[in-house]
Amino acid sequence: MTEPKTPSNPAITRPGPNRRFSVAPMMDWTDAHYRYFARLISRHALLYTEMVTTGAVLHGDRSRLLGYSAGEQPLALQLGGSNVQELAECAQLAEQAGFAEVNLNVGCPSDRVQNNLIGACLMGHPALVADGVKAMLDSCSLPVTVKHRIGINGRDSYGELCDFVGQVQEAGCDTFIVHARIAILEGLSPKENRDIPPLRYEVVHQLKADFPQLEIILNGGLTDLDAMQQHLQILDGVMVGREAYHNPYLMVEVDRRFYADETPVLSRIQVLEALRPYIVAHIEQGGVMHHITRHILGLFQGLPGARYFRRQLSTEIHRTDQPLELYDRLVTDMTARMQSQDCSLQQA
Ligand SMILES: Cc1cc2nc3c(=O)[nH]c(=O)nc-3n(C[C@H](O)[C@H](O)[C@H](O)COP(=O)(O)O)c2cc1C
Repeated sequence: MTEPKTPSNPAITRPGPNRRFSVAPMMDWTDAHYRYFARLISRHALLYTEMVTTGAVLHGDRSRLLGYSAGEQPLALQLGGSNVQELAECAQLAEQAGFAEVNLNVGCPSDRVQNNLIGACLMGHPALVADGVKAMLDSCSLPVTVKHRIGINGRDSYGELCDFVGQVQEAGCDTFIVHARIAILEGLSPKENRDIPPLRYEVVHQLKADFPQLEIILNGGLTDLDAMQQHLQILDGVMVGREAYHNPYLMVEVDRRFYADETPVLSRIQVLEALRPYIVAHIEQGGVMHHITRHILGLFQGLPGARYFRRQLSTEIHRTDQPLELYDRLVTDMTARMQSQDCSLQQA
């Protein structure tokens, strides 16, 4: 396999973390527990927090919202908001908290956030996004990136997309993460908005051709590492959401393929073993094991025993008052299953 060429972006002013492969921000999914787990599988993938609104950061439980463990780095904070002053303050807090990047959400189609001028509806207000980005850049030295759609209903022409990117670029943003489908702001749920409008990768490729100096990251529907490497012939990075959650061991190839790092990786069983002390510490602090293990249900995706593993951690776990015992038994069971599978492969 030839190493894909790295598009050069001499114009990038604040390069920040390497964005060749990132895991998308996902509410309720990419919390600190998921990120700890994902980091056991890939040392290099850039991870994002769930979206946090500027209001929550400024008036809520800040230490929880901005808290993470050092091992999760490189880690970017995603903000939702459009109040310029609040965005500036939050960007400053992101820098103080040690994040590698601060990202603005211009892709979420939820009604709840639209009412507060947060998310995809901001694609209809490029000047406001530009002002917010400029304020963020002025208040911190972190790279500021924008995650957006290729359009929204009523504003979905390529010209309007270029107008959006052009105005935000003028404000100083040089990294754009593009979810390659429009968002429909009325009539579709956020979930439907991740599947129904068709993916249009060619639009993102065209954007890179028209703005070659920008770092353009592709998002939406990516599940296959070979296909991602093909996109990287043209684009600067790929961002993977649902596949990285439902099939997390996909990321075991990321360091070698995208970062040319040949460091030995952990097997699935070693990942489970490495996660155990983290679970123990969480339980000792009064936490519930399920809050961590709910994120690992897909670890054996595609292998014999995957359903058994999933069932133990999604159903049986609620029937026991000794969750760690269940975990240890499961590690033993899955080890035996993996070994017998290796044997049958060798005999075949
Ligand atoms: C459960 C869930 C929560 C999401 N939450 C966010 C979010 O907080 N911020 C955001 O920008 N996108 C969010 N998204 C969208 C993803 O970041 C991504 O753009 C989308 O899932 C398409 O990528 P994929 O096809 O690789 O999953 C969410 C997606 C899912 C499935």
